[in-house]
Amino acid sequence: MTAYALLIHPSANRVYAESAVGLAAAELTVFGDRALDGRLADITITTIGGLPYVTFTGVDLTDRDLSVLANLSARYAFFARDGDLLRPLEVTGRDRFDSDLITIPKYAGKTNEQFTRLLLNVTALATTDRAGAAGTGGTSGTSGTAVTVGAAAGPLGPDSPPLRVLDPMCGRGTTLNQAMMYGWHAAGVEIDGKDFEVYANFIRTWLKHKRLKHSAEITPVRRNRAVLGRRLAVTLAASKDDHRAGRIVDLTMVHADTRRSRQVFRAGSFDAIVTDAPYGVQHGTRGQAGRLTRDPLGLLAEALPEWVALLRPGGALGISWNTLVAARDDLAALLVKAGLEVADGPGYGGFAHRVDQAIVRDLIVAQRA
Ligand SMILES: C[S@@+](CC[C@H](N)C(=O)[O-])C[C@H]1O[C@@H](n2cnc3c(N)ncnc32)[C@H](O)[C@@H]1O
Repeated sequence: MTAYALLIHPSANRVYAESAVGLAAAELTVFGDRALDGRLADITITTIGGLPYVTFTGVDLTDRDLSVLANLSARYAFFARDGDLLRPLEVTGRDRFDSDLITIPKYAGKTNEQFTRLLLNVTALATTDRAGAAGTGGTSGTSGTAVTVGAAAGPLGPDSPPLRVLDPMCGRGTTLNQAMMYGWHAAGVEIDGKDFEVYANFIRTWLKHKRLKHSAEITPVRRNRAVLGRRLAVTLAASKDDHRAGRIVDLTMVHADTRRSRQVFRAGSFDAIVTDAPYGVQHGTRGQAGRLTRDPLGLLAEALPEWVALLRPGGALGISWNTLVAARDDLAALLVKAGLEVADGPGYGGFAHRVDQAIVRDLIVAQRA
């Protein structure tokens, strides 16, 4: 057994104020349970040299296991603890692109990028493959069946196959960029035409600037001859080698009402659906119709049947929302009504945090059986 310490990124403290370390501990708990077969223990907050760390112990953690933990949303630095000493560990997660993919876009109403990564992580970790094993890696081998490399690590393993992720209310694409960062396929739906245009411009400029091989086009989405909206379709590769090997990432954003998602995407075509729902209060100074949605729960009630149809069996849905406008139990009831099973394993109940006076944010994750 080895003792570890996780130093939280300083910016996490700005986002979550005093909740940052607690959220990191909850996220680590989910990782331990879902990706590391329960081999993490003693997860606690410890002050070392005047700074708060999340400390924990791990049994037989391999470099692979550490590379899974490297994806933790608030990770700044990782250490092994030898008595009073901290030994820095070099860890690399799944990130495939420069971090400015995530940090360049700045606008009122942007979901914080670290929180977006957290929501994506804990939703991805709630997916199971069709046989019920964690993530998409395959069987664990303990039952005598074939061992698939990366199985235990689940979808966040360094070489696990890409997930297909949908953000059905994607704004200007924070979730899409984070999913793409992991080399996953990303799709979004957004009702605001300006958001669609700004994102389309941003991603095309960014891809050109980085000299990444890609194609991008905007076409109308039609159903029964009527135009439903516009679709941005991008294909790209993270490197020349990836391009040669056919490791292509698909990125799609559709300008449409999410309540018509089923007309836009194929049933069962996503592993994970991840969204930051409208807060029911004005965000910053932008005051757009979507962000001012007065009744987020009503919108979710209408949209959920559409979204669930797009999720494959074993896939998971993660929503963050403002608990001051909708109670957790009411949202959980909607998810159950839509045929999902709410994840209540270790860690999943530990994410509520204050964002500002008008917003206490929480997240809920549920799986399609
Ligand atoms: C909290 S914001 C998400 C922000 C996004 N995560 C980002 O970082 O840009 C909620 C989004 O839901 C969108 N929205 C509200 N109602 C919608 C609908 N019926 N269909 C599609 N999008 C909708 C809003 O326009 C807004 O962009």
